[in-house]
Amino acid sequence: MSKVTVIGAGNVGATCADVIAAREIADEVVLIDIKEGLAEGKVLDMYQTSTLLGFDTKMVGVTNDYTCTANSDVVVVTSGMPRKPGMTREELIGVNAAIVKEVVGESLKYSPNAIIVMVSNPMDTMTYLTHKVSGLPSNRIIGMGGALDSSRFRGYLAKALGVNVNDVDGMVIGGHGDTTMIPLLSKATCKGIPVTDFASAETLAKVVADTMVGGATLTKLIGTSAWYAPGAASAMIVESILRDQKKMVPCCAWLDGAYGKKDLCIGVPVVIGRKGIEKIVEVNLTPEEKTAFDRSAEAVSKTNAVLREQV
Ligand code: LAC
Repeated sequence: MSKVTVIGAGNVGATCADVIAAREIADEVVLIDIKEGLAEGKVLDMYQTSTLLGFDTKMVGVTNDYTCTANSDVVVVTSGMPRKPGMTREELIGVNAAIVKEVVGESLKYSPNAIIVMVSNPMDTMTYLTHKVSGLPSNRIIGMGGALDSSRFRGYLAKALGVNVNDVDGMVIGGHGDTTMIPLLSKATCKGIPVTDFASAETLAKVVADTMVGGATLTKLIGTSAWYAPGAASAMIVESILRDQKKMVPCCAWLDGAYGKKDLCIGVPVVIGRKGIEKIVEVNLTPEEKTAFDRSAEAVSKTNAVLREQV
């Protein structure tokens, strides 16, 4: 029996729960929110797709009752305020830190062995906060950002190259921020062939720039933060945990010496399996990428310092 709790029935949380249920990634999904009726309603709606899509995952929607979340294998935290157009992820820090602290504490009371997947923004700092307040070992706290940013990177690359999106591979490391993320162009390939063989430096520079503001572009278009890819990225991480798939995904992980960093959570390639983060993979970065990573680490540390002042 595998059980996942998704905290926050907003767009990202609901999409994550929907993907987990419809793809039968877990045996049971619990969606929980503080807003009366929201999680119940969304889950009832999702449940009513069971016969249409052909799945029978157990689904529970609850208002703030953490007893229903007991013994979850994975807890996905999406609660907090989403970005509005023009807002940075970092501006959400004060209000979301208090929420994240509370929901992580409540979840762990009922699911002391759970692995936490952090989605709330600013994601790197919320992952760091979870480390500081939960006392969990670092393998059990995974920040989702790099999985999403890498998917956006691969999408923009495929469009620019005119090839199938699933033939394109690529990773985004560093912070999950418009100026802190680092699409690793030097490691991006199409069927194993470097993308630099297919497209001009100018085209690829645009792909990198579009990837970095991927979230902001959507926020501007939709009027609020995106949800399909963020929800699916979170569900993909959950799947790699529950099915012990050992997928290599860039995720926000606690660094204790890797990449020359300590006391920091930031996006790096990790292997995700039943124990959570089973390995941090150190890739050889070009000198430019290394400089960008150092700069990104510094920016994320600065945001973490704001957290210390506010919480
Ligand atoms: C985004 C938000 C979820 O990048 O951070 O769309």
